Amino acid sequence: MRTELSFTDLPDIETELLAVLAVDTQTEKGPDAKPIPQLLTSNAAVTASAAAVLASGEFKAGANETLLFHAPAGVKAKRLLIVGLGKQAKATVHSVRNAAGTAVRFTKPRGIRELVFALPESDSLPPGPCSRSAVEGAFIGDYDPDTYRSDRQDLSVQSFTVAAPPTADKAAEKAAFKEGVIVGESQNFARVLVNEPGNKLTPTEFGKRAAAMSKEVGLACEVHSTKKIKELKMGAFWSVSQGSEEPPALIVMRYEPKGVKGGPVLGLVGKGITFDTGGISIKPGDNMEKMKYDMAGGAAMAGAMRAIALLKPKVRVIGIICASENMPDGKAQKPGDVQTAMSGKTIEIINTDAEGRLVLADGIAYARQLGATHLIDAATLTGAVAVALGTVNAGAFSNDDDTFAKFNTALETSGEKFWRLPLGDEYAEMIKSDIGDIKNTGGRYGGAITAAEFLKVFAEDTPWIHLDIAAMAWIEENRPYIAKGPSGVAVRSILEWVRSYSA
Ligand code: BES
Ligand code: MN
Ligand code: ZN
Repeated sequence: MRTELSFTDLPDIETELLAVLAVDTQTEKGPDAKPIPQLLTSNAAVTASAAAVLASGEFKAGANETLLFHAPAGVKAKRLLIVGLGKQAKATVHSVRNAAGTAVRFTKPRGIRELVFALPESDSLPPGPCSRSAVEGAFIGDYDPDTYRSDRQDLSVQSFTVAAPPTADKAAEKAAFKEGVIVGESQNFARVLVNEPGNKLTPTEFGKRAAAMSKEVGLACEVHSTKKIKELKMGAFWSVSQGSEEPPALIVMRYEPKGVKGGPVLGLVGKGITFDTGGISIKPGDNMEKMKYDMAGGAAMAGAMRAIALLKPKVRVIGIICASENMPDGKAQKPGDVQTAMSGKTIEIINTDAEGRLVLADGIAYARQLGATHLIDAATLTGAVAVALGTVNAGAFSNDDDTFAKFNTALETSGEKFWRLPLGDEYAEMIKSDIGDIKNTGGRYGGAITAAEFLKVFAEDTPWIHLDIAAMAWIEENRPYIAKGPSGVAVRSILEWVRSYSA
């Protein structure tokens, strides 16, 4: 998708489709309250062309509601698309991201290949952040997971233009717009990986894709396999891989900005299980095909590293992806086995399906060995997090309030929803083992929390954040602004958290 930024007056823009935003300005409640939609443009010609249809009451400016008409009077665009942002008081830069996605997903199946998106003119919606989020939303909306369909009609939108008000600060707009392109493309980079089936994206292939991306954006990247994993004594990681014909991959990406010597080193660790059968504690067949997305945490780290390399914050970052299959086999690990992790801690395996925490235990230890002073991990770790938070918020955990405060601030920019869940000694008790130091499951209750407690053992005294994205990484139903399938969740939030450490 080509993207452009324009400062041309809206009526003068020649395009197939001009998208303009509207809010519902009705503030009263009650049975007689009627929505009052208002266009977010100061342009008189555009406002006049839409006046009749807005007065008709057909369009309520609900969030992502759309209304299209042809040949708008006094405007050179062939079509005008009005996209609702919902109630005026609740409209944010994040509603603008979704509205841009909605505009693209409206346009795409209709074979219209270009659109112009008019930035909202509103005191509560600053143009810079809106440019960025509009471009992000356009990329997010443009993606469809239909790569392997032979009836795929390439209806991708070819050109997306953001029309900023002619009065906007041009340099600031350009910078924000450029950021949006990088972030949107990086989120889609992660989504493409997550969508790949287990037979295509093996751990080895994951390594190749990460290396190719790294080369493109100027990151240092090493991809190790069995030999190095054994050398490093990553007994927890290897215990998951030992039952698979496909070799594992330990992917290490490094971002080292010139002139940054001291300061923090951020360690990003992603779960990269390219297929999770459960191993000997095998999963039921229903929905098992979805377990190809068990590498979404790793993909999020790859996407974030891509964006970091291009946006160049002044802070060192190490990205680690622990990629493996989890398969049942004659060589596979068994419940009851005891494994020694890289840190020296012994782990009693209760359930071979609790494999994510095993690969991450050693990934986290390795990040610390490589000098990480602050850690963040992302993983499709537990079904239990879906029970706790549904598919609305992803789970977040931390052993350090200051570090987590920075993550919370990052969410204001990313617009992603994470909810912090507790940790504590009583939960840590639940994973104590009679046979070894800890066991890899903590029983039925509080499953997302005991999984986080397990990881905390390996973070030790390093400030650390854990993101459980199991319920958010795959979207089950189409939405107006995003296709069902891989969401690319966590890329934007991790990126913003990293940028918050920039010197
Ligand atoms: N990959 C799964 C978690 C998962 C479930 C991700 C559903 C996405 C959707 C993880 O490896 C797993 O199997 N977890 C077990 C842990 C249990 C055995 C303690 C689970 O959640 O059931
Ligand atoms: Mn599992
Ligand atoms: Zn898993």
